[in-house]
Amino acid sequence: MAEAADSLPPAEVLLSKRVQEMVINQEEPPHLYICRKSGEAADEEQEENVSSDPLSQIPLIDLSILSSSSSPSSERDRELQKLGLALSSWGCFLATGHGIPSSFLDEIVRVAREFFEQPMEEKRKLEKGVEEFEGYGADPVPAKGQPLDWSDRLFLDVYPEERRKPKFWPENPPSFRDVLEEYTVKMRMMTEAVSKAMAKSLGLQEDCFLIQFGEKAPLQARFNYYSRCPRPDLILGLKPHADGSGYTIILQDVEGLQVLKGDKWFTVPTIPGALLVLMADQMEVMTNGVFKSPVHRVLSSSERDRLSVAVFYTPEPNKEIGPEEALITEERPKAYKTVKDYADVHWDYYQQGLRAIHLAKV
Ligand code: OGA
Ligand code: NI
Repeated sequence: MAEAADSLPPAEVLLSKRVQEMVINQEEPPHLYICRKSGEAADEEQEENVSSDPLSQIPLIDLSILSSSSSPSSERDRELQKLGLALSSWGCFLATGHGIPSSFLDEIVRVAREFFEQPMEEKRKLEKGVEEFEGYGADPVPAKGQPLDWSDRLFLDVYPEERRKPKFWPENPPSFRDVLEEYTVKMRMMTEAVSKAMAKSLGLQEDCFLIQFGEKAPLQARFNYYSRCPRPDLILGLKPHADGSGYTIILQDVEGLQVLKGDKWFTVPTIPGALLVLMADQMEVMTNGVFKSPVHRVLSSSERDRLSVAVFYTPEPNKEIGPEEALITEERPKAYKTVKDYADVHWDYYQQGLRAIHLAKV
């Protein structure tokens, strides 16, 4: 820490290096990753804000009850009501009964881990430029003063097919591509089921969100590898943010993700076979603020590394989306404008550690 600030490596240099490499080489985490306070005072402050209330937990929704015509209608109504409540209070839920076998979820985690566990030369074949999005690496350089994330990632456009850039798709492990293609098909089915269920929970036409997103609404997959971190008290795996997509579906192999509700952080539990469905800013707009796009973050851990796969579901480029007419009422006047390509402005704000949702407000 004796070095003068101007002799420390700038973000561009750090971001051309992988966190996993620094950990293997047992390097001290560079200053730009540090984003939390240390010491007792900070501990107290941070601890206090993490909920330990066992009765207040992220809701679990069984999608099979909602999509099957064989479940009794009273049971379906109850589950729909639970869904609406989950999204208006938490902005997320853990989905079971989504029809994707647990063994397949294990498979995608396995191939993703195998990818990250390869030697650096193999992964470098898919390396992105520091300022690019797609490929293997880290997010582009954030605004000055913003911390870097203790993670490495592989970011890929997966749907529609014409957006895929095969040069970034791993050839190793050999099953990676097939597994990701299959996961994409399953994510398409799941977004259809979830979009319909959300509409029904609000008493809307079941296709209304699907129409707003559009037939070719893009899906992007981000494989996040959170290496062990020697200073979890000072460094986050992923800084607090809300997503700029419509909504995001997250698979995780161990805990680490936390969602903010009120002024408290809640840890997303790892439930075998469950997927987290997390509202993002564009669903908040489409529901006229009924559903919340929650702030979330990932802690780092000194004990174990963590893998997650986040799939972002975003309205088609150049397509206007806005609050559903039926959700604009006297008690709830129109609170959001119509927006287009919101994810792009969201990104500019994200890089400054800010939210962009105010731009969409009336
Ligand atoms: C994200 C995100 C959570 C996770 O990629 O936007 O919030 O658990 N990921 O990796
Ligand atoms: Ni996120």
